Amino acid sequence: MSKDKLIIFDTTLRDGEQSPGASMTRDEKVRIAKVLEKMKVDVIEAGFAIASPGDFDAVKAVANAVKDSTVCSLARAVEGDIARAADALKNAASSRIHTFIATSPIHMKYKLKMEPPQVIEQAVKAVTYARQFTDNVEFSLEDASRSEFEFMCRIIEACINAGAGTINIPDTVGYGEPGQFGETIGKLIQNIPNADKAVFSVHCHNDLGLAVANSLSAVVHGARQVECTINGLGERAGNASLEEIVMAVATRKDVFPVETGIDTRHIVPASRLVSNITGFPVQPNKAIVGANAFAHESGIHQDGVLKHRETYEIMRAEDVGWNTNKLVMGKHSGRAAFKARLEELGVVFGTPEELNEAFARFKELADKKHEIFDEDLQALVSDVNSTEVGETYRLKSMEVHSKTGSTPHAEIELMVAGQSQRTSADGSGPVDASFKAIEKIAQSGTDLQLYSVNAITSGTDSQGEVTVRLERDGRIVNGNGADTDIVVASVKAYLNALNIMMSRVERAHPQSGGV
Ligand code: KIV
Ligand code: ZN
Repeated sequence: MSKDKLIIFDTTLRDGEQSPGASMTRDEKVRIAKVLEKMKVDVIEAGFAIASPGDFDAVKAVANAVKDSTVCSLARAVEGDIARAADALKNAASSRIHTFIATSPIHMKYKLKMEPPQVIEQAVKAVTYARQFTDNVEFSLEDASRSEFEFMCRIIEACINAGAGTINIPDTVGYGEPGQFGETIGKLIQNIPNADKAVFSVHCHNDLGLAVANSLSAVVHGARQVECTINGLGERAGNASLEEIVMAVATRKDVFPVETGIDTRHIVPASRLVSNITGFPVQPNKAIVGANAFAHESGIHQDGVLKHRETYEIMRAEDVGWNTNKLVMGKHSGRAAFKARLEELGVVFGTPEELNEAFARFKELADKKHEIFDEDLQALVSDVNSTEVGETYRLKSMEVHSKTGSTPHAEIELMVAGQSQRTSADGSGPVDASFKAIEKIAQSGTDLQLYSVNAITSGTDSQGEVTVRLERDGRIVNGNGADTDIVVASVKAYLNALNIMMSRVERAHPQSGGV
């Protein structure tokens, strides 16, 4: 018997980007969207078009670049937001407008300052208006898991009548519990007279670590769309993770009455790309995409797996894209092969100069590192693709001294808005000395909130990938840098974070205020 389709709605580029410090440039969003498209994600929420001109451009660029997935923009339930979303999506092969309003007593009273009948009226108006631009409209009840059941039934029925084809029930604050949340979805579907005219969707946050469990329980009770993100990225503790939902459904066919259209072999590459772009590392024990997810440490397990894989493995590593870490390029690879491979990874250079610069960096890297993997290429391009960020600070040269028994010292030459400036400083280690030297020039007034180093591939010649998170006046940015020398990678990451801090404009948060 054929199963129902479970629609996978990815919101890495919208809710994922709401993680503090996870903001992405337009080009980065397009690269991620291309991988999601290859993975056969059904709907890609590309952003919140009204938030800023940059967000609008990013939604528009994703809408232009993606052909096989539906591209969606979020919009509050107001005409200005909806018109902006429609404008950004106008070139999409297939588009969706996702409009929302809060429905819980606490949100209606304190955030919206509206009475429940006004909220229904506004929601209906918004859906009706959105339908003027597209027949694919989704309506979300923000904070649904703390909303009153009867009120949800009323507003959902009205919005379906107004033309919403998808009704999304978010667990905005991660308050849901699997049994109760799933039952609520089932009861909504049973009680709303026109429920059969819409797809019911869920969007769960992970504040109690239950986002995936809540989403899957909803699927058992009739939800046919799940909103999720790569690596579970998202506001606060994140959203339900795409890879866990998809692999649970694929692995437990006996339990879930649905199937997804996802090509799971793109899961690990997508996870790496998102981690690389956002600078949010994946914890080693993360299900499916963590470095240890398929590693068997104990002798008993290893012995079992060697005798018969299924003794300890419920999924095949290669089915989710592990082992794609193959040698792709080397010192003798030419420009055409380099360009072609990057195009396969979703990277298209805007100008011949960008390609030349990236290729020069590739040659430099290939001199230091014999085997170049996809991950190395992605890191290299993240370094190059900084045209949108602007480069107020650029590393020209550096020298660090580190010797047992003596104080580490760094000498750094930076190009600052085109002018060379030299400086030096001592520190508790070579990285600390380098950052102090940079700060002597930049005097940024930022606070270092996070410093992390990861090896991109294996082996001691691997590139170190560094993330630096800086905060200033409540604004948080992440910078990334990669190099075979981790002190150089650290300096690149620090400068990248400073450049982002200098150039990014503030954006409106979709859920921060009234409509
Ligand atoms: O968490 C939430 O409620 C949201 C909505 C805007 C869908 O992100
Ligand atoms: Zn959300």
